[in-house]
Amino acid sequence: MAAIDTQRVLDVRHWTDRLFSFRTTRDQGFRFENGQFVMIGLPVDGKPLMRAYSMASANYEDSLEFFSIKVPDGPLTSRLAHIREGDEIMIGRKPTGTLVQDSLTDGRRLYLVSTGTGLAPFASIVKDPVIYERFETIVLVHGCRFVDELAYGEKIVADLMQDEYLGEIARLKMRYYPTVTREPFVNRGRVTELLRSGEIGTELGQPPLCPDTDRVMICGSPAMLADMVGLMEELDFEEGSLARPGQYVIEKAFVER
Ligand code: A2P
Repeated sequence: MAAIDTQRVLDVRHWTDRLFSFRTTRDQGFRFENGQFVMIGLPVDGKPLMRAYSMASANYEDSLEFFSIKVPDGPLTSRLAHIREGDEIMIGRKPTGTLVQDSLTDGRRLYLVSTGTGLAPFASIVKDPVIYERFETIVLVHGCRFVDELAYGEKIVADLMQDEYLGEIARLKMRYYPTVTREPFVNRGRVTELLRSGEIGTELGQPPLCPDTDRVMICGSPAMLADMVGLMEELDFEEGSLARPGQYVIEKAFVER
């Protein structure tokens, strides 16, 4: 069986000059866990040019959704930014990734902390009914440079709150904390600083981050990950894996495109 499938683009939405999302058809045999990523791409000079993308859709949806940055001279995204409904796109058959629930031990609160396109795996995870069974509170934190870059996440959250099946429990348990660093907004500052200072917890009526009760999934730039891991270590959180579930897990947001 080929390692790569060809699927069709169903729709494309451009959120800012730098951000877009798109949906594709999904092979019936393609199974994944919410939070995982897969290689996707386009043929370039007769060869597949593939990059890692987190699924932003949930694993029970009929189509796949992806959230991408556009890099003007990026080998893949400079092309991918021009895809349209009906175009073909290549999708690998083997999803993988560390942002999966089985790598976390049980807790009371689940923090999903992201910057930029690092939101994508959490767009999938917030639609997973299991997190609402496992945790009392789910906190989705998303940091961007500018307000308009929050739009995709705002739409994901707004849709979730109105969802026929999950809306009621999400309205009860999900807290969304968007923040911006480079222009005025209700919440301002880097996610790391707002978590360290306790500002996010205070604002949302949650106690300070604590490894006894809180579980954390982290996805962002290498610099953001380094700072978040620093904070996790300061607070004595233990990193988890499938082999040894723990209190936090991290994954790099895929931006070299
Ligand atoms: P800042 O504007 O202070 O650089 P990017 O688009 O560069 O990935 O940034 C997305 C968001 O992540 C921005 O708000 C940016 O803030 C923030 N950011 C960048 N580096 C870090 C870091 N080391 N820790 C936390 N947030 C960061």
